[in-house]
Amino acid sequence: MILYYICFFTKRQASTMLNLILFGPPGSGKGTQSEKLIRKYGLKHLSTGDLLRSEIASQTVLGLEAKKLMDRGQLVPDEVVIGMISSALESNPQAKGFLFDGFPRTSAQAEALDRLLELKNTGINKMIAMQVSEEELVSRLLKRGMTSGRSDDNNEGVIRARIAEYHNKTAAVADYYQKFGKVVSVKGEGNVDEIFEGLCKEIDEVLVA
Ligand code: AP5
Ligand code: MG
Repeated sequence: MILYYICFFTKRQASTMLNLILFGPPGSGKGTQSEKLIRKYGLKHLSTGDLLRSEIASQTVLGLEAKKLMDRGQLVPDEVVIGMISSALESNPQAKGFLFDGFPRTSAQAEALDRLLELKNTGINKMIAMQVSEEELVSRLLKRGMTSGRSDDNNEGVIRARIAEYHNKTAAVADYYQKFGKVVSVKGEGNVDEIFEGLCKEIDEVLVA
């Protein structure tokens, strides 16, 4: 009987989680908007780019290997980022929900994420895809490259390689979630606060459903 209540409570708690994917090409504003969204909705922000940069800063073997690919604008292997996300999910058992930024980036990552969330009796509620023109993306990233110190921002060739990786490998992830009717698009150009309002409108629809 006690076991029944524990299972019931865990399941009930997990099903009330809010799990979102903020999706879009490099420079579309995922990081900028994630900061605002996690404050408003109390979610745990999981950015694989940030996790990888923290490995690089700590000069771990994983970080040094990943840096070689990141500096060329290429994706790091699926098993590396899936392992990082799996550990992050395990280390945050009390999270109200997760905001995934820059993950999943391949169909294999999307399938792995679904499996990991299923183990927690939860799943993705919505993918919000931000739409920004390629010229705007390049201009934003070159501008940030002047001050950020990010080695993948200060060379137009690398920026365009990142965008090409997005088209070749990542865009299909939206098709994967589209099959489940979970994808919505929002305009990602213009005023940061107006874009934020558009994102909140989509998230609030999940909360009232
Ligand atoms: P990652 O760190 O995820 O970078 P990214 O997706 O390529 O792009 P950014 O993080 O640079 O852009 P963003 O969309 O967050 O925009 P931001 O808010 O910063 O990945 C880096 C690398 O790590 C990858 O290339 C890959 O090698 C590896 N990696 C990461 N995840 C991986 C995965 N899952 N699988 C495999 N490899 C992985 O904004 C950009 C700039 O624009 C900022 O300066 C910002 O101030 C400005 N800005 C934002 N909004 C606006 C606005 N509305 N108007 C004007 N400027 C704006
Ligand atoms: Mg980012």
